[in-house]
Amino acid sequence: MSNHPLPKQSFIQGPLAGVSTTPFRELVWQYSQPTFVSTEMISCKTILHDPQFIQQRFINKSPLEKKLSVQLSSHEPAELAQATKIVTDMGADLIDLNCGCPKKKIRSKNTGSKLLSDPQKLYYLIRAMKDNTHVPVSIKIRVDSQSDDNFNAQIATVVADAGADFLVVHGRHWTQGYETPCSYDDIAFFVSALAIPVIGNGDVACKASLDKMLATGCAGVMIGRAGVGQPWLIAQLQAALLNQPFSKPHSKQIAEIFLLHTKRLINLLGSERFAVFHARKLAKYYARDIFNKTEFCDAVNNCESFSTLKSLCTQYF
Ligand SMILES: Cc1cc2nc3c(=O)[nH]c(=O)nc-3n(C[C@H](O)[C@H](O)[C@H](O)COP(=O)(O)O)c2cc1C
Repeated sequence: MSNHPLPKQSFIQGPLAGVSTTPFRELVWQYSQPTFVSTEMISCKTILHDPQFIQQRFINKSPLEKKLSVQLSSHEPAELAQATKIVTDMGADLIDLNCGCPKKKIRSKNTGSKLLSDPQKLYYLIRAMKDNTHVPVSIKIRVDSQSDDNFNAQIATVVADAGADFLVVHGRHWTQGYETPCSYDDIAFFVSALAIPVIGNGDVACKASLDKMLATGCAGVMIGRAGVGQPWLIAQLQAALLNQPFSKPHSKQIAEIFLLHTKRLINLLGSERFAVFHARKLAKYYARDIFNKTEFCDAVNNCESFSTLKSLCTQYF
C-alpha cells in the first residue's frame, strides 16, 4: 500500500550537489515553508563505509528541518537496502534514489541516469528501498520521449509496479544538461500515466514558469537552482499563487543571509577556509541581482577569510 506523503501543491527544494548542506536547508526552512528539502545525492558505498562521516557532513538534520529527504545513489539492491536502513535510523523523513545524474563519472558506475536504461533493475532497486524503510520512497528521473522503445512508458510502469510513493520528473533528457528548455509534455505524460503523485522539476523560478509547470497537472514542483541564494523563493511563489503581496529581502538583507549561510558552513565544516571556499560557489547565486555581479564574484573567488567576505558584501550589496 502506497503512502501519500505529499500535500496538494507541494513545494520542494531539490537536491543540489555541493549546495544542499544543512546550512542551506536550514535557510530554506527559515524563509519558506517547503513540503520538504533534500540532501544532495549520497553514494551508498560511502554510507556503508563511513556512516558517521555521512551523518556529520551530509545528513546532520537540524531542529529547524521539519522534513528531510535523503537522496541515495546506488545500482546494487543489496547495498541500497542496507543504506536505506541506515539513513532511516539517521532521521530521513523520505528517501529518494537518484536516477537522473548525467555526469560521466556517475553513469560509468552504472548509477544516476544510467539506471533508466535497465527498468528491471530499477524495479529491484525501488523494492530494496520500500522493503527496508517505513518512510515514503521516491525516485528522481530525467525524461526520454525520443527513443524508439517507449522509454517513458516503461519507466512509469516500473515505478508503479515497484510501489514508489511518488515520482520526481526533471523534464530534460540526460544528454541535455541544464540549459535546454524543460519538456513539459514529458512531465504531463508521467502525470497521466501514474496514479501516484508526480512532482515536476525544471526551470521553475517565477510565477510564469510555475504556471507552466502546474499546467502539466503535476502534484507539486521541485525547485532546483533558483532556490540557491533565494531561500524565500518558495514563500514568494506560494504568495504569488494566492495573489498575495510578498516583500523580497532587500540587497543588504540578502548579503546578511549569505554571511549567515557562510557562518553556519564554518560550524559545519570546522574550518573557516573550507567554508569560504564553499561560499565562493554560492556567490553568483546570492549576487544574481546586484549591479556589479561579475566584479563581486571575481573578488569572492580570491577571498580566503570570513572578514574579507564580509567587507566585500558591505562594499557590493
Ligand atoms: C550544481 C547542481 C548540482 C545538482 N545535484 C543534484 C543532485 O545531487 N541530485 C539530483 O537529483 N539532482 C541534482 N541536480 C539537478 C537538480 O536537482 C535539478 O533537477 C535541475 O537543476 C533542474 O531543476 P532547475 O531547472 O530548477 O535547476 C543538480 C543540478 C545542479 C545544477
